[in-house]
Amino acid sequence: MVGVFFIIHYPLSIDMIFPTSENVSRMKTSSTFKAMQAAANLREQGFDVIDLTVGEPDFPTPEFIKDLAIEGLHKNITRYTASAGMKPFTEAVSHFYGEQFGADVTPAQVVASCGGKQALFNAACTILEKGDECLIPKPYWVTFPEIVTFTGAKSVFIETEETDFILSAGEVRNAITDKTKLIIINSPSNPSGRVVPPAEMRKIIELCAEKGVYVLTDECYLFFVYPPAEVFTSAVLPRELRRFVCVAGSFSKTYAMTGWRIGYTIANEEWSKAMIKLQSHSATHPTSFVQYACARAMERRAESMSAVQEMLEEYRQRRDWFIPELNRINGFKCAMPEGAFYAFVDVRELLGDKFKTSADVADYLLTEAQTVTTDGAGFGADGFLRISYATSMENLHKAIERMKKLFNTELQTVAQ
Ligand SMILES: Cc1ncc(COP(=O)(O)O)c(C=O)c1O
Repeated sequence: MVGVFFIIHYPLSIDMIFPTSENVSRMKTSSTFKAMQAAANLREQGFDVIDLTVGEPDFPTPEFIKDLAIEGLHKNITRYTASAGMKPFTEAVSHFYGEQFGADVTPAQVVASCGGKQALFNAACTILEKGDECLIPKPYWVTFPEIVTFTGAKSVFIETEETDFILSAGEVRNAITDKTKLIIINSPSNPSGRVVPPAEMRKIIELCAEKGVYVLTDECYLFFVYPPAEVFTSAVLPRELRRFVCVAGSFSKTYAMTGWRIGYTIANEEWSKAMIKLQSHSATHPTSFVQYACARAMERRAESMSAVQEMLEEYRQRRDWFIPELNRINGFKCAMPEGAFYAFVDVRELLGDKFKTSADVADYLLTEAQTVTTDGAGFGADGFLRISYATSMENLHKAIERMKKLFNTELQTVAQ
């Protein structure tokens, strides 16, 4: 029998470039991801790497939350839930905010999401579109401008160095135009560790409400605030202001649950409905038994808060030792962070012939000391390095030793 051969003409050759959509092509790859990758590459080559790029707690998830997830599995909470999240979850968030902060949050204002990142994405995508401006204070978390880019809106950055990287109402007022639709505020801030004082935050939100500008508050590091700085959630604001506010919350850092992928938004019901609609066509909802575990953990507030306090105390001890040590390195200047777990180091004094940019300083640390930091340029702050202290004291000691050797001894010797 004679075989019949068909020659199929595929429209694309294998070598052809994939036609990535315009919306995604415009987005940049995360600089924090690149830094993590650099650390992984060195490690693979067998180097003793100190990774100070980590954006997650180095603690395990508290045992009782793990047990609750197992309990959820045994109870067969393994099916689809509502896109907004299961009732016990939205009710637990509402109850928790009432008990912990005295906030009047209804379950209908809560939408469960797959981490704070999806909470931010849901919020931004349901309000921004082409022609809109979104205000983003500098330095910013790398993802903010990329989400805005994806929506087709324009990021308008606010310089905050004059106010020590702490956003002020005056700076916001100067940046608002008739195209401003949204502002994204992250306090405590990644990367700067700065905290906007509650009174100033209130002033900013009052101003935005007066101008009809919506406010997305990224409260991912909500509980990681070192006294005397104060924990503040915009969920406590009165209803007339809350009409303009969406809180993006996350369990990732608070309970050391980055891999579980769970967060939430708290917003007015219309905004929430739009986010539910969007999410129902994407992730649908975060994992059912993870929602269950988080709902039950929030009900056990005393236990949850005590786990958070333990982590906060450990971060505080690291911070109190690490920041003064960083300031003892030639050319490094670092303000005391009031929250989160990042040191944001000004290395502009080092820039000149040897180092043109902070990226060169980060590269030098990487190649000469196998110490991996994140260049500030990705956060809109060229001249700075973000150094995470979400790592053991032992690693921090080693890192300081290596950095001092490079900048206080070797570079000094070369200069003489
Ligand atoms: C400022 C900020 N917001 C949001 C997130 C997102 O966290 P997740 O999606 O893990 O909840 C992160 C994570 O690093 C962050 O640093």
